[in-house]
Amino acid sequence: PGAAPGQESSTERRVRVPPGVTVFDSASWNGIAIDSTCGGHGTCHKCKVQVSGSSPITRHDARTFSASELESGWRLACLVQATRDLEVLVPPLTTRPKAATVGVGRQVILRPAVQKRYVELEEPTLEDQATDLDRLLAAITDLEPRPDLHALRRLPKVLREGDFKVTAVIVDEELVDVEPGDTTATRCAIAFDLGTTTVVATLLDLVTGTPVAVASMLNRQQPFGGDVISRISATMMDPDALGRLQTAACETLAELAAQVCAEAGVDPHAVYEVAIAGNATMTALVLGIDPEPLGVAPFVMTTALPPSVLAEDLHLGVHPRARAVFFPALGAYVGGDIVAGMLASGMDRDKRTRLFIDVGTNCEIVLSDGDRIVSTAAPAGPAFEGGAIRCGMRAADGAIETIRLGDTVELGVIGDVEPRGLCGSGLVDAVAELVKVGLLDASGRFVPEADAKEIAPALHDRLTMIGQERVFVLHRPTPGADPAECVVLSQRDVRELQFAKAAISTGWTLLLEELGLEHGDIAQVLLAGSFGSYLSAASAVRIGLVPKLPVLRIVAAGNVAGEGAKMALLSVRERAGAQALLEEVTYVELSDRPEFNDRFVEQLSFNGG
Ligand code: FES
Repeated sequence: PGAAPGQESSTERRVRVPPGVTVFDSASWNGIAIDSTCGGHGTCHKCKVQVSGSSPITRHDARTFSASELESGWRLACLVQATRDLEVLVPPLTTRPKAATVGVGRQVILRPAVQKRYVELEEPTLEDQATDLDRLLAAITDLEPRPDLHALRRLPKVLREGDFKVTAVIVDEELVDVEPGDTTATRCAIAFDLGTTTVVATLLDLVTGTPVAVASMLNRQQPFGGDVISRISATMMDPDALGRLQTAACETLAELAAQVCAEAGVDPHAVYEVAIAGNATMTALVLGIDPEPLGVAPFVMTTALPPSVLAEDLHLGVHPRARAVFFPALGAYVGGDIVAGMLASGMDRDKRTRLFIDVGTNCEIVLSDGDRIVSTAAPAGPAFEGGAIRCGMRAADGAIETIRLGDTVELGVIGDVEPRGLCGSGLVDAVAELVKVGLLDASGRFVPEADAKEIAPALHDRLTMIGQERVFVLHRPTPGADPAECVVLSQRDVRELQFAKAAISTGWTLLLEELGLEHGDIAQVLLAGSFGSYLSAASAVRIGLVPKLPVLRIVAAGNVAGEGAKMALLSVRERAGAQALLEEVTYVELSDRPEFNDRFVEQLSFNGG
């Protein structure tokens, strides 16, 4: 479903979110600020929005709104779920929050590394020849910044041009600039989720803690291959490729930075810090570090803790002394994006047993029992991104994303257009539904023709052949169209999905064993990332991609990597929390476990899970 909240009455946005996500989370994931002090827990009663159509009235709504307000659609945003297309009116913020809601309901007290202090200084005289710097530093009473050369070069001129009324810009306890007059109201940063496929930028107002613009685009490294392995291979085959990949990543970030600044009407020089959350390969490539050791056994990173660099060195076009900070990585395949995601989902703060799964070509899995945290990576292959699937495609217009089988076939298609193919969530749905109606057996084989007729009389004629292979027709462009022209699920596609899901479920099964836990101990499963968030929880449970739990315990977590990057910019304490995860989380290598193969074979079955 879509929600169309506007940040102000004059701004309209269309956004797409996973079904069942609250309006509050939908807005937050898309950079639209809604008033809140409780972080979406239904207790502050501040997240007032006006929703189209009729939505259930909770007791909190009844206590917050008058009868006529309820009648005209006013609800608390954190209690309304987007289960259909919604139009949502979001009033402008009434208060400047000292805390911001980020990630999976995390409340972040604002303590950015970027600080500004406005000072009015006494002008020097022959009796008072204190240096410009001493004069400035003496006026800043609560911080003791170290000056950098850029600031010193600007200091004499700016002081005198500004009649000794200036604003000191301090980033991470370093004086990086002085600006004439009082510029304290303008203090921005950009959070980047540097994905292998898609890159997302969020411009944050650090004064209020609110996102002011969001933009995304495909990573310009695409021509080098769709996944990290092909990009690493490119650097191994061509000595110039590393430089070109670095340039492509930097250009992507710079273009997005320009875009979000333009959208918000913010001078790019008011962006004093950026945070970049990416997997280990993306992080190495954007820094120009040779990624080859990440791609070959024993899969070693150059460093787990990349240093912060000047954004200027990455040509990001923001303030010349802005810093670009990175997240630490736990391993070659559990990178900074996952650490950012753990931060955003509070994996280290929650006492409950929680399982975090970022489903993708490389699937990262984290399990916490509230005390110990273990993580691993599972090579799931490209099936979820539509790779190696006969009619597979990315989640774009024309992709079938939901499927329900009954007497008819109900398809949900992105963009409400003619179906062209099947994206990852559609693939999971297709297999889960075919298992449910009995046309696929537990081993993942289509049942024999004769049985199909009896099991699903309304559907059995969709089971047909293309060449030597059995397929199930999901969509016929015209009645009687040749199966080769239809959108189908083939027997081989089912096998691909089986291998992908078995890799993932073997991962979490072994992590559960590592901590001596069982399925039932898990209080919450967080499905993260652009693909995981759109998966149907019921289908994921049915095929055993996630543990067999009530679907209410399975939660779409959204783009948690980007949310973690925001948190690192909003609070130095949260940033330190991300560093601490390096010590707290144990990375478990599973592929060399003797029990790995046995578990993998068990998990291939659709009765497994
Ligand atoms: Fe506090 Fe909704 S965010 S009640």
